[in-house]
Amino acid sequence: MRVLILPDAAAAADRVAGLIAARLRADPAVVLGLATGGTMEAVYARLIAAHRAGQASFAQATSFNLDEYVGLAPDHACSYWRYMREHLFSQVDMRAEAAHLPRGDAPDPEAEADRYEAAIAAAGDIGLQLLGLGANGHIGFNEPTSSLSSLTRIKTLTRSTRDANARFFDRAEDVPRLAITMGIGTILRAREVLLLAYGAGKADAAAAMIEGALSAACPASALQLHRKVTVVLDEAAAAKLTLRDYFDCVHPGGRDAEI
Ligand code: GLP
Repeated sequence: MRVLILPDAAAAADRVAGLIAARLRADPAVVLGLATGGTMEAVYARLIAAHRAGQASFAQATSFNLDEYVGLAPDHACSYWRYMREHLFSQVDMRAEAAHLPRGDAPDPEAEADRYEAAIAAAGDIGLQLLGLGANGHIGFNEPTSSLSSLTRIKTLTRSTRDANARFFDRAEDVPRLAITMGIGTILRAREVLLLAYGAGKADAAAAMIEGALSAACPASALQLHRKVTVVLDEAAAAKLTLRDYFDCVHPGGRDAEI
């Protein structure tokens, strides 16, 4: 796991957006795995700026988002479809037919999850998977106790996750109880993973993910099994790492190692 610690949230978002833009230049037809949540808003704003500056094109890329709330249609104000349209797709050159999210309003959500998993596999799996981190260690909506080899399926959200996402809804009780999410096994098939977390609220989860035991109690710890993971943190999210000296030695200031 490559752990890059940046001084603040803005620098961490700059780093992640820079890595994605570089990947789009090197591999324009990349299959991107995309994430939602407050953390990613800064990343997408930077990618839009890079696109406007001619430094990033999505014209040949394909994308699959991690998850969607069960029951929310793509035009629902709080759906992840709507989030992606507003924060990225409508402002870059992504082809509409190449951008995929699960349909939250599918009549048979379990069949929709199976269809989505098959679509990812048919696209050759994810090339670069972008992830945020839940305060309870979730990735996508894989809540604690998720199978570490799970595939796309329906998950029941924890109370803490629904509370954390209530700020995006008019009323806390409007947050759906179920979501369709890529599984941890789906995520682990990605060729490369890029996880971003910032703020003190993520410090416990970041330490458990990087230095804790491999355990379904912290779903993000499954990334310890992956061969190519970059974790980008700000100082606040890195505050509970005990191996901090080592990470600073290998990647001082979050820079790449000079070998
Ligand atoms: C949400 C999403 C995740 C996201 C995480 C962190 O519930 N399903 O994909 O990474 O929780 O969200 P935020 O960035 O708002 O802290």
